[in-house]
Amino acid sequence: MTRRSVIAGVGSALPKRQVTNAELASQVDTTDEWIVERTGIRNRYLAGEGETTGTLATDAARAALAHAGLQAADIDLIVLATATPDQTFPSTATKVQAALGINDCIAFDVHAVCTGFLYALSVADSMVRSGSANKALVIGAETFSRILDWEDRTTCVLFGDGAGALVLSAEETESGILATKLHADGRHNDLLFVDGGPSTTQTVGKLRMKGREVFRHAVVNLADVLNEVLTDAGLTAADVDWVVPHQANARILDATARKLGLPAEKVVVTVDRHANTSAASVPLALDTAVKDGRIKRGDLIVLEAMGGGFTWGAAALRY
Ligand code: UT7
Repeated sequence: MTRRSVIAGVGSALPKRQVTNAELASQVDTTDEWIVERTGIRNRYLAGEGETTGTLATDAARAALAHAGLQAADIDLIVLATATPDQTFPSTATKVQAALGINDCIAFDVHAVCTGFLYALSVADSMVRSGSANKALVIGAETFSRILDWEDRTTCVLFGDGAGALVLSAEETESGILATKLHADGRHNDLLFVDGGPSTTQTVGKLRMKGREVFRHAVVNLADVLNEVLTDAGLTAADVDWVVPHQANARILDATARKLGLPAEKVVVTVDRHANTSAASVPLALDTAVKDGRIKRGDLIVLEAMGGGFTWGAAALRY
């Protein structure tokens, strides 16, 4: 037996306001047909007054703790992935910590945009396996609606807000997280970025993306990193029960599954309901498939994501 990080519970949270493609088309020069055909998106949730990355993250964390049957006081590590924090500092992780009433634990944010949750999971897993933590909250939470240019139809129709969380628990087991693999290539900054920041413009900025180029890189990078993480875990695509991918575009999900020779039925798809929620999309999709009964204890799951930087990564785990 080995000390590993086991997923003790999962949870998620969405803003109250649901926005369909039809509603967006009444405000932006777009159509339901274009959005569905090019992306698979039909709906997204957008944060309203009083809803922030921190409040959504806290709600998701509470749901994950309840699912795990644990108390907030049991948690000794919070790693929160976001590119849309409540404040430039302190970290949104410390806001979640305070909201949960945890007086002392390790808490910090990681920033790898849409790959943020994979980065957060990998860091938390390392700390759990090394003995620095026993029970960790790993959260992906975003309010991308607040950095979108609502005049730019090529980006504003693609994103939504939300949060997903999981509780990792240290156990002597052969299950849990089996392998993680992370990558970054900073040469591609100009293909997906925000045109502002504290140290440059002193503004938050708006999201800018050359979608077609990002698409091309995504399919290649995601198929490669999935193969790498399976190899590291001593597995092949045939062992996989479920792929839980970053939800950017249904066509990317299809193309990646085809490249790996995986049937589309094994891919968890929530992009139609949630749109692209950046770092929140993988844990939101995981929570959806666990709670609707598709993912069961003992299943072999691979998680993957790709985003700004570029960054990309994957994880293999026995649920
Ligand atoms: O999460 C981080 C990673 N992000 C991604 O993985 C996103 C990757 N990229 C994509 O998902 C796709 O490239 C998009 C969905 C962003 C775009 O789809 P596409 O098939 O690559 O379309 P395109 O950018 O090549 O645009 C095709 C046409 C253009 O018109 P022309 O130049 O052909 O006349 C656009 O102006 O579609 C037009 N268009 C729109 N039309 C109606 C772009 N946005 C819209 C829109 N409604 N919202």
